[in-house]
Amino acid sequence: MSLRGTIERINGSLVVARFEAEPRIGDLVEVGKLGLMGEIVRLSGEEAFIQCYEATSGLKPGEPVIDTGKPLVAELGPGIMGTILDGVERSETKLWELTGPFITRGARILPLDRSKRWGFEPTVKQGDKVTGGDILGTVQETESFQHRILLPPGVEGTIEQISRGSFTVEEPIGTLKTATGPVELRLMHTWPVRRPRPFKERLPLSIPLVTGQRVIDTFFPVAKGGTASIPGGFGTGKTVMLQQISKWADADVIILIGCGERGNEMADVVAHFPELTDPRSGRRLIERTVIVANVSNMPVSAREASIYLGITLGEYYRDMGYDVAVMADSTSRWAEALRDISGRLEEIPAESGYPAYLSDRIAEIYERAGRVVTLGSGQRVGSLTLLGAVSPPGGDFSEPVTTHTLRYVGTFWALDQELAFRRHFPAINWLRSFSKYLEVASQWWSKYERNWDQVRAVALGLLEEAAEIEETARIIGEKALPDEQRLILLVAEMLREGFLVQSAFHEVDKFCEPEKQAALLKIIVDFYSLAEPLIRHGIPIEKVRELDIVPELMRLKEREGIKPIEEARIEMKRQIERLAKEYEVAPR
Ligand SMILES: Nc1ncnc2c1ncn2[C@@H]1O[C@H](COP(=O)(O)OP(=O)(O)OP(=O)(O)O)[C@@H](O)[C@H]1O
Ligand SMILES: [Mg+2]
Repeated sequence: MSLRGTIERINGSLVVARFEAEPRIGDLVEVGKLGLMGEIVRLSGEEAFIQCYEATSGLKPGEPVIDTGKPLVAELGPGIMGTILDGVERSETKLWELTGPFITRGARILPLDRSKRWGFEPTVKQGDKVTGGDILGTVQETESFQHRILLPPGVEGTIEQISRGSFTVEEPIGTLKTATGPVELRLMHTWPVRRPRPFKERLPLSIPLVTGQRVIDTFFPVAKGGTASIPGGFGTGKTVMLQQISKWADADVIILIGCGERGNEMADVVAHFPELTDPRSGRRLIERTVIVANVSNMPVSAREASIYLGITLGEYYRDMGYDVAVMADSTSRWAEALRDISGRLEEIPAESGYPAYLSDRIAEIYERAGRVVTLGSGQRVGSLTLLGAVSPPGGDFSEPVTTHTLRYVGTFWALDQELAFRRHFPAINWLRSFSKYLEVASQWWSKYERNWDQVRAVALGLLEEAAEIEETARIIGEKALPDEQRLILLVAEMLREGFLVQSAFHEVDKFCEPEKQAALLKIIVDFYSLAEPLIRHGIPIEKVRELDIVPELMRLKEREGIKPIEEARIEMKRQIERLAKEYEVAPR
């Protein structure tokens, strides 16, 4: 059923129309003679407020509006992987081919290619009873990605017929006998982007998402199915960090959502991503990545939708039983779009002009993360980890998007302008960040280091103590400090340079395997345990600082594997013993 209406007035991307009967909130509408894409966001009497996803210039009152009777849905099926989509799931790459770099408004391209054929291999057979979420078969979508074809949620019955062969996304691959009659099975189905996809059961989070980035994995880990926020001012490394995680995290599928308004913010990623090599397969990373980005001249409203599209795609792959990492860069742009829409709707603004429901919307987004038992028979487990960058204006973390996000996420990686300025990257401030997944991580890490909790706590404790000592040093000068404190400053420096700092561009150090992370941290902490008694016995700090092993420990991160760390341990003991002997101190 489609309802007709007429445009009454236009305010930027907001169009007000009067319909012949009352339409539904959330319905997708075609606006004006060009048939621009829009969504009904509010009703007031007979007036419907439509948020347009395309530029409304030239649109005039009196032009027709058609309510499609359907919400904004994502098309789910083979053909999404490896593409770049805009916020309303039109393929950017394909649209470009059609209309040039600036998308012609109203251009209709169905998200999934209708003509492409996919080789389908059924895994169910005639007579099988199936229920929503069950896997019907597989399609090798890219060399690195196997697409599992799901029976859509809410459907159940007995397989009447199913064929193996080559199909387009719309052609029937079989039929299902259901209580209400036969249903044709296809490679694709649709899902409303604003509605979370259902699952059977939420599982406790029990596995860390390993990223190969030391400050993350060791100090502020995120769990598979967990959430993390990356707030940071201009140029503090948000985008690089998300790229590093896309590249190295042990997730099967990566969804990158670029909400940026400036085309160039995402253009860089879009330009470089296809060139990245997947360290897992040696093939191209894009083969298991989807990018949702408004690189075109679309209005802010499309940004608002893009985050929901990205998460819906993520849930779809989760439902296949994959570990998915969804990354949004940056959620501040999404929140600004929300503010813009709210302003046009003349809603009463709350903090900094954001609508009062900002907090609820942020919560709803992060609630879509999780590790779940999927729908369907059996115990298939999938996870969706959600990581969101936040760009607080002026790097001020007390602004609403940062503070509300802080309440809902499990990990908070606070990026620090001063660290970035000193080129300490990743610029994660270890004093302001937190992770609620430490218990999960600790269990997992114990296979690499028995006393992981303790080693980590000692290291973090030293870093915290050093921060306090530095305050004093600023006033009285470092040389006036007692040697015990100067040793802590030295070890903190070793931890910073030898462990926390990790260049995304260093051939070896860009990725650090867990075993090496544990060994590196342990050796620096052990250095402290060995040096501390020497200082207590009156050996001057300068003597400890001058040991050859000190700079060596800071360079170990750049050596391949853990063998150099084992060798350094022997050398460290030798040098400490020699120093102790020199001063006739019995080493521990
Ligand atoms: N892990 C890293 N290793 C080395 N250099 C880094 C790292 N992270 C960030 N940088 C440096 O910092 C620069 C800025 O990083 P990035 O573009 O990620 O910042 P941003 O926070 O996304 O900025 P914006 O606010 O403009 O979006 C990079 O171009 C790079 O030179
Ligand atoms: Mg950025």
